[in-house]
Amino acid sequence: MLSPPGRRMLAPSLLSADFSDLASAVRAAERGGADAFHLDVMDGHFVPNISFGPALVKAVRRRTTLPLDIHLMISEPGRYLAEFAKAGGTTLVMHIESQGDHKALVKVARDLKVRPGIALSPDTPLESVVPLLSELDELTVMGVYPGFSGQQYIPSTTGKLRQARRLIQDSGRSVDLSIDGGITVETAREATMAGANFFVCGSSVFGGPGSPEDNLRALRGSIADGPR
Ligand code: DX5
Ligand code: ZN
Repeated sequence: MLSPPGRRMLAPSLLSADFSDLASAVRAAERGGADAFHLDVMDGHFVPNISFGPALVKAVRRRTTLPLDIHLMISEPGRYLAEFAKAGGTTLVMHIESQGDHKALVKVARDLKVRPGIALSPDTPLESVVPLLSELDELTVMGVYPGFSGQQYIPSTTGKLRQARRLIQDSGRSVDLSIDGGITVETAREATMAGANFFVCGSSVFGGPGSPEDNLRALRGSIADGPR
């Protein structure tokens, strides 16, 4: 039996929103019941794409009081932690494949009074985060190769989530288990059953069949059941 995960949260990813009108995207997502926002920072080096930096995080912070989950897809996260904390980030998620002493960087994040998180790309085994788990507030399992929204969920992610939930359970700490990439009403249900409790959703919210509000409500329905 899986340990009861924390509160289930939906975090729309603004990467899929209209950058020319982010304020409206934030408002629509809030109306649809978003619990947090996910912001994808890309440096064109760690991943092939370039997105945005602390200035945009700061602008979003002015528009919402919800937690901001900052996904740092950058080669040297240690250089920018203070800036993203100052910009209003709530959780700073670094990739385990990035450069630096991640244990030390997690401590830096704590000292900055933000929640530290670690993300794993699809090819990275969970073993790599075991020594860090007891220091984290969030573990992000990527359901796609980082860099772009709108990709398809990699099916082997579900087993990895199940294993991650077990590791969290063994650590005895309450760590949010986040799934990022390829989340739809179907894969959200699958990830819930596997023990995820934090759901990043980009194209399924801002590029989905209905309004962001309706899309979020549909996603909420699909994460309602499963292990508690
Ligand atoms: C991918 C990003 C994701 C992306 C998710 O590199 O980390 O957060 O925005 O987009 P969807 O939900 O469309 O896969
Ligand atoms: Zn992301």
